[in-house]
Amino acid sequence: MVRSEIEVLPGQRTPILAYAVESGGKKFLNPALLARRGDEMRVKLINHIDQPTVIHWHGLGVDSRNDGNGLDVVAPGQSMDYAFALQDRSSMYWYHPHAHGYIPQQAYHGLASLLFVEDDDEAALRKELALALGESEIPLVLQDKEFDAQGRLQYAPSAAQSFGGWVGSRLMVNLTERPHLKAGRRIVRFRILNGSNARSYRLAFLQDGKALGFYLAGTDGGLLAQPLRIDQTFLSPGQRLDVLVDFREANPTRPVTLASLPFDPMHQEGGHDMAAMDHSQHGAAQGAASPVAMAMEGDALALMRIDLEPSSTPYDRRLPARLSSLTAPAEPAGAARRMQLGHDGKGHWTINGGVFDHAAVPLTVQRGTRETWLIENAERSMPHPMHLHGFSFRVLERLGSPALVRTLAGARGLLPQDQGVVDTLQVWPGESVRIAIDFSHAHQGDQDYVFHCHTLEHAEAGMMMRYAVKA
Ligand code: C2O
Ligand code: CU
Ligand code: CU
Repeated sequence: MVRSEIEVLPGQRTPILAYAVESGGKKFLNPALLARRGDEMRVKLINHIDQPTVIHWHGLGVDSRNDGNGLDVVAPGQSMDYAFALQDRSSMYWYHPHAHGYIPQQAYHGLASLLFVEDDDEAALRKELALALGESEIPLVLQDKEFDAQGRLQYAPSAAQSFGGWVGSRLMVNLTERPHLKAGRRIVRFRILNGSNARSYRLAFLQDGKALGFYLAGTDGGLLAQPLRIDQTFLSPGQRLDVLVDFREANPTRPVTLASLPFDPMHQEGGHDMAAMDHSQHGAAQGAASPVAMAMEGDALALMRIDLEPSSTPYDRRLPARLSSLTAPAEPAGAARRMQLGHDGKGHWTINGGVFDHAAVPLTVQRGTRETWLIENAERSMPHPMHLHGFSFRVLERLGSPALVRTLAGARGLLPQDQGVVDTLQVWPGESVRIAIDFSHAHQGDQDYVFHCHTLEHAEAGMMMRYAVKA
């Protein structure tokens, strides 16, 4: 982990924090890592900056020594060795810092990248659709930043922003503002990570102001059983999407815009000085493709422009009906464990009334058991993308969803993303969401993990809880 400099805005040098990696005699900053399921992963983290840090492998079911949950950190000048087997479903995972007290700043200043795990389902899909990573399969990391006149990243949250979350006005896709992509008239796959500290997106592909339908192929934890046709989806911090867009459906003479549609971000904490976050006028900018730049979550924003070009070779592939052997989740027996999300009225976010305490373990679960959790968000609150370390999970039911979410939902109030394996769950104000977690894993001995909100400022402001898995 180093301090470095790159060109983010044209002609300006931006100081960043980065993972500097050497491989095959070449140097990389924040490389995307590629692995096969079953591979043995060995990483040495050397901390060359002046702050404590640690790498967390977001979404992987590794043991707590390798999880990098922040209970142990790497001091400046020190190092740490990771060694674990990749047992997870094929998907796009990611890695980022996790030293409590430093997470939002370090992530915002550049520390984050991707980890692809591949298996046979993945290979079959790529073969069937003739996909090549980096050509017809494009990873997109969505982030929002704020820069000063010299091109330096600004991270200076006020008290209100430290509580509510830091939202930047410049939308970045792979650290590039409104990039252009040339795409063939074929099926293109996008692997999308919301790597923002606090901003959620309502994603759609627009052509001439109309939504182009696309297919949801996978979520945080890999491929769905079959592709789902949708025309928009939310993506909250920490979550990933695997989508397939068939550009043969589009008008080849007009550009396509990947946009974030306007929405009510539902910042309704009450009892706080939220003047800086008054979103009562949001949504005024309909016409979703207009490149407006305001530091407001929920505004219409253009993220990327896609120009269609004739394919050099004819493309006649069809979406496969089956993507993976994922089955519908079974409901665990027994009463649900309740997780109540709230705040203490004094600037801290809470889980079951408690704020994060490094030394306290409010919850112990038994390895090998299956539990239902009922995650309840307060009516007057903010959305919380709740993330579980150590295990991915399934979504069983959403109750009490706000109207905006309900219109996108199907049976049991579930959103398309809820059909997949996930590790991060957006819980909207007023919602109660039931999830099923299988606490089985191959690790020996007791394990220590955390459950937290992936709005990084919320986690910093207390919305994180330790939990133990008893062997
Ligand atoms: Cu992506 Cu605990 O985090
Ligand atoms: Cu994680
Ligand atoms: Cu939150």
